[in-house]
Amino acid sequence: MSLKKIYKEQPNTFKFSSENLLASKKIIENYPEGKQQSAVMALLYLAQRQNNNWIPLAAMKYIAKLLEMPYIKVYEVATFYSMYNLSPVGNYFIQICTTTPCMIRGAYKLVEACKEKISDKEKELSKDKSCSWMEVECLGACVNGPMMQINDNYFEDLDKEKTIKIIDQILKGDKPKPGSYRGRINSEPENNRKTLVENKNA
Ligand code: FES
Repeated sequence: MSLKKIYKEQPNTFKFSSENLLASKKIIENYPEGKQQSAVMALLYLAQRQNNNWIPLAAMKYIAKLLEMPYIKVYEVATFYSMYNLSPVGNYFIQICTTTPCMIRGAYKLVEACKEKISDKEKELSKDKSCSWMEVECLGACVNGPMMQINDNYFEDLDKEKTIKIIDQILKGDKPKPGSYRGRINSEPENNRKTLVENKNA
């Protein structure tokens, strides 16, 4: 469900920033001698973060060299896992869960908001190229649905109006607050707990 289409306009080169090169060395050190290829997923993730949320082919080749493994093996990993984007998604990548629990609580209203504010089509960059959206399968926050993920953060208990407000904020360059938009702490019941009330830490 991620952006698996290889982007036509590829940069010729890629290399880790000095900070990420250091981070990659630390990751590689976690594996026994000769097993450094096991770091491939973490390194692809680092490359994606460094490159505005998507992985160019040059980054796969760079990682293959760094880990002394065939480029095709890095390519296979990058094209298999849904967390890697192989086309630009913008600085803000919005993923809306439309699996049944979120869907029956109004996930398609969130999709409507994205169509109105970002682009009529999913996986397409907004006019200012700052963000894109797509539908995804369950993100594991069903009890707080409908919800969406923007980069590393979850925004939960949403409706169309709240989604529009959040998107307006990111389009302005602000950082909206993640979490529940109905005032819940994590996934606690609304209107106070009815069970385990004697246990403060429950
Ligand atoms: S069904 Fe939407 S987070 Fe699980």
